[in-house]
Amino acid sequence: MGRASRAGRRAKQQRSRAFGLSDILAGQPADEELLAAVYDFEHDEITEDLAFYRRWTRRQGGAVLDLGCGSGRLFRPFVEGGAARVVGIDGSAALTARAEERIESDDVLRAARGEGRLEVAVGDVRRVSRRERFALVVLAGVIAHLDGPEDAVRALSAAARALDRGGALIVDLLGPGGLPPHDLPLSVDWEKAWDDRRVVRRSRLERHETPEGLRVDYGTLTDLVEADGTIARLPASFRLWYPSPSAIVALAGESGLEVEAAFGSHDLNPLDERSERCIMVMRRAADGPGTG
Ligand SMILES: C[S@@+](CC[C@H](N)C(=O)[O-])C[C@H]1O[C@@H](n2cnc3c(N)ncnc32)[C@H](O)[C@@H]1O
Repeated sequence: MGRASRAGRRAKQQRSRAFGLSDILAGQPADEELLAAVYDFEHDEITEDLAFYRRWTRRQGGAVLDLGCGSGRLFRPFVEGGAARVVGIDGSAALTARAEERIESDDVLRAARGEGRLEVAVGDVRRVSRRERFALVVLAGVIAHLDGPEDAVRALSAAARALDRGGALIVDLLGPGGLPPHDLPLSVDWEKAWDDRRVVRRSRLERHETPEGLRVDYGTLTDLVEADGTIARLPASFRLWYPSPSAIVALAGESGLEVEAAFGSHDLNPLDERSERCIMVMRRAADGPGTG
């Protein structure tokens, strides 16, 4: 490894330490911009939740705060749902840079930003504090990246503080039926064409049942195979955490929130042991009946 790349890696690690766990890409041994591009390549295929978020935006009517927005995959449904404003916050500078690129290359999003209705910032969902209040706050796919119950209470409390009166928080993560049932050795997940390169994704995972939920050590190895046969290999590892639905209800209570509804899919199927998703709609406990 050259001196420049060693220095770059050290700077990344220092930045990652400074941000704590909020930047999931900065501390990785691979180039974070490339990892962010691969992240987009993979995540932009997920579209089954877009109509759900469009509907909830329309229903809540007002401003939307997208906590852990990644590269802004959900910005379109928020804007199309008529959000008065959309604020996206993410801990990864590489992913918020991708979000900026997404906005620039999308007429609808660019227009929304031109009108002051769309903003992206780097920030930690556990410490987010904004003067503005929101009709809808979303934590989609984020809880799994937090370190455990204490961090979850921090993030949920910050989300609760950001809600306006009558505002709803949506917490969306893998459900009991979507969790890996056993460890997986390193194996190929998929292989796809990406412009004139091929991408080969391998991963391995190790499960750890703990009193606070399932913890998963998840390692990915992504090979970008160029047309001339050269390979850029991108290793990354993530520590994921999946609390049970009942644990999430308890964490919501500790954070001043009440769970109003729970779904097992974005089509609003009931949440049960086989549900692939665990989606909870929460309101500030202070907004409940009899408190006004
Ligand atoms: C699986 S992605 C989901 C992205 C987006 N919500 C979506 O549904 O497409 C999880 C995101 O949470 C962000 N994240 C994890 N921990 C964070 C923290 N403490 N503060 C801010 N962002 C965080 C990651 O950077 C990543 O973009």
